[in-house]
Amino acid sequence: MYVCLCKGITDSQLREAIASGGNEFKQLKQELAVGSQCGKCVPVAMAILAEENAKT
Ligand code: FES
Repeated sequence: MYVCLCKGITDSQLREAIASGGNEFKQLKQELAVGSQCGKCVPVAMAILAEENAKT
């Protein structure tokens, strides 16, 4: 599913970026530009990040 419509980023892209070491929001933002436009996706992206970080 799309998390960030502005940048066309899906939850699987986010999870992949998190798995390859992006365990902080600012890293994901740098890598994928998630949340860099309207910012509406930030809470969802943060929730996915927290979910993935809780797994490890
Ligand atoms: Fe992600 Fe707008 S939906 S910045």
